[in-house]
Amino acid sequence: MEIVLSGIRSTGNLHLGNYFGALKNFVEMQHENKCYFFIADYHSLTTHPTPHDLHGSVKQVFIEYLACGLDPDVATLYRQSDVPETAELYLLLNMNAYLGELERCTSFKEKIKQQQNNINAGLLTYPVLMAADILIHKSHKVPVGKDQEQHLEMTRNFANRFNRLYKVDYFPEPAAYNFGKDLVKIPGLDGTGKMGKTEGNGIFLIDSAEDIRKKVMRAVTDSGPVHPNQEMPEAITNLFTIMNAVSSADTVQFFLDKYNQCEIRYGDMKKQLAEDIIEFTSPFREKILDLSKNDAYLRKVVNEGAQKARESAAKTIKEVREIIGFKNL
Ligand code: TRP
Repeated sequence: MEIVLSGIRSTGNLHLGNYFGALKNFVEMQHENKCYFFIADYHSLTTHPTPHDLHGSVKQVFIEYLACGLDPDVATLYRQSDVPETAELYLLLNMNAYLGELERCTSFKEKIKQQQNNINAGLLTYPVLMAADILIHKSHKVPVGKDQEQHLEMTRNFANRFNRLYKVDYFPEPAAYNFGKDLVKIPGLDGTGKMGKTEGNGIFLIDSAEDIRKKVMRAVTDSGPVHPNQEMPEAITNLFTIMNAVSSADTVQFFLDKYNQCEIRYGDMKKQLAEDIIEFTSPFREKILDLSKNDAYLRKVVNEGAQKARESAAKTIKEVREIIGFKNL
């Protein structure tokens, strides 16, 4: 069985784009692989959140991932900061990470522009910590988006460098896990581009029915087709893409036919789309609200996850220490 690991940024609520982009696949994948999912709360310190914000967002992410169907009895779900072995591996890997390659990293160059008053060493070594996350469980596959591929490439470099330096074949080379055709990209409702937190156009799993109706009714459209079977502008294609994800095939076909016959009423389509999104998200929303009230259960899940993750991590650290030469005298 392959070891799959994914790190989750500890900020923001989940929106439909997150769900269809990754989570749905995680939920299916957890049964076929040995999966580790963790919340990257050490990483989030690179932006200096307050303790209160850090705590709140980690808890919320945990709740939302559980609500979406990650099963703590099947996969290992944990908080990065519960596994200090990760920090030790990070320290060890830092000795073989070079300033030049860290400075050349695209995400570092972007970050130092974004937060010029806080160019901390954690930002520079962010890819080393990420490599430690991945290598601590000797992972084979890492599901990542395009923006993380360079980090994964760096992880492979660190792993190979370690193997070469100590003349061992210890760390496997982690590969990007691509969902390929299963990956559904959810666009925003503002005419162009994807749904995203920074884009400010998200429909969140925790949104109330009222919020969803408002957001959908505000979606950008145009004045409608004038010729039969007219090519669709992006804003309208986007509505159909979301509808495809949440509505029945019949519903999609109905509005597609209307469009092609130049009889579409976008108001009707939006009303239907809003109701179908609500129907799709409400079970998640209910679970999120339930879990939010169940601290005892959450505590149990977090503790058990930490324990499982630490078992695997401790084994790696023990072996790495021996390879490096930290042995009993
Ligand atoms: N850098 C990732 C992101 O911003 C989060 C992350 C941290 C991660 N450690 C990881 C992802 C290890 C995959 C594997 O999304």
